[in-house]
Amino acid sequence: MFEALTPVGEMLTRNLDTLSRQPLLICGLLEDNLPGLLAEAGNAPRVFTTDFRYFLWLEGKNDVKVEFGSQPGPGSAAGLLLLMPKAKAEADYLLAACLPLLAPGAPVFIAGDNKGGVKAAPKLLAPYCDQVNKLDSARRASLYQAQLVRPAPPFRLADWVSRYSLLEEQLTVCTLPGVFSAGHLDNGSRLLLDSVGELHGRVLDFGCGAGVIGASLLRRHPGIQLEMIDINALALEASRLTLAENGLEAEVYASDGLAQVDGRFDHIITNPPFHAGLKTFYHTTETLLARAVDYLKPGGELILVANAFLPYPELIEQSFGHCDTLAATGKFRIYRARR
Ligand SMILES: C[S@@+](CC[C@H](N)C(=O)[O-])C[C@H]1O[C@@H](n2cnc3c(N)ncnc32)[C@H](O)[C@@H]1O
Repeated sequence: MFEALTPVGEMLTRNLDTLSRQPLLICGLLEDNLPGLLAEAGNAPRVFTTDFRYFLWLEGKNDVKVEFGSQPGPGSAAGLLLLMPKAKAEADYLLAACLPLLAPGAPVFIAGDNKGGVKAAPKLLAPYCDQVNKLDSARRASLYQAQLVRPAPPFRLADWVSRYSLLEEQLTVCTLPGVFSAGHLDNGSRLLLDSVGELHGRVLDFGCGAGVIGASLLRRHPGIQLEMIDINALALEASRLTLAENGLEAEVYASDGLAQVDGRFDHIITNPPFHAGLKTFYHTTETLLARAVDYLKPGGELILVANAFLPYPELIEQSFGHCDTLAATGKFRIYRARR
């Protein structure tokens, strides 16, 4: 049974006839099983997502091919449906990565929440399409349609990498569109780096983003065995690039929270996610605070930065029995708990 979980999902369901006319490449984060519905309507789409959670959820659900990564694999597509991501720069990136798979004349759809920047669709498509029409709109969501008229140039990920330097750590950080804190070090992450003391053994950088925390820790403590995890393929790719650019080595892999992480660590260090998606609040951090203790060796520690107003000390105390505050500014707190 299909259940549209969002206004965008509801609107797309109304347009099933148009969308199922050809096997589409669907790119982006849907929160429901529209791909399965399209498959039932006769043209199984191919789904490319940078979100590991959506990938896991959709994989094996139907006979829809789902890819997780920083760009779609080879193979042509008869049309594209892009779900508008949060950041416009990421939409530019995803169009550049997906459109080379389409032949001129192929339909291109962009759908999204009205509050999420979908109105930028005509501008986003201007380099590739002459006319962009609004196919449907509801109170909360819009769907745009256009036709690819100019073949998109081959995609080169390297063209989308931007860099910034961290002088204190002598690091170059590589970032990609939509990755947290592109272009500068977040103030919370700076405070976290300044508060972390000696490290040894196995270290987890939870929610690594562009890799700035993990790479800085490796620079300071070259003897540690570092693992970096994130749910976002562009963050993982940026972290790999950051490590390579600085001649550092760590294991970088996708994990939804701690779900794909094995064994116990000496240190778990994180600037954890706060909000994900436009309106969805995922309980990633609450789950981390409850479960981290099981992923630490005896004497191992969890250190995190959080906005001062978040009720994390109570949650940390519930699972660790105590919570130390290592640093406090007007906006941020650094919390530490030992197993
Ligand atoms: C606040 S950012 C911190 C990024 C980086 N560590 C820094 O300090 O610049 C949080 C990161 O957590 C990632 N994230 C969100 N939900 C996640 C989940 N369920 N599992 C793993 N990582 C997640 C986000 O993609 C984002 O890169």
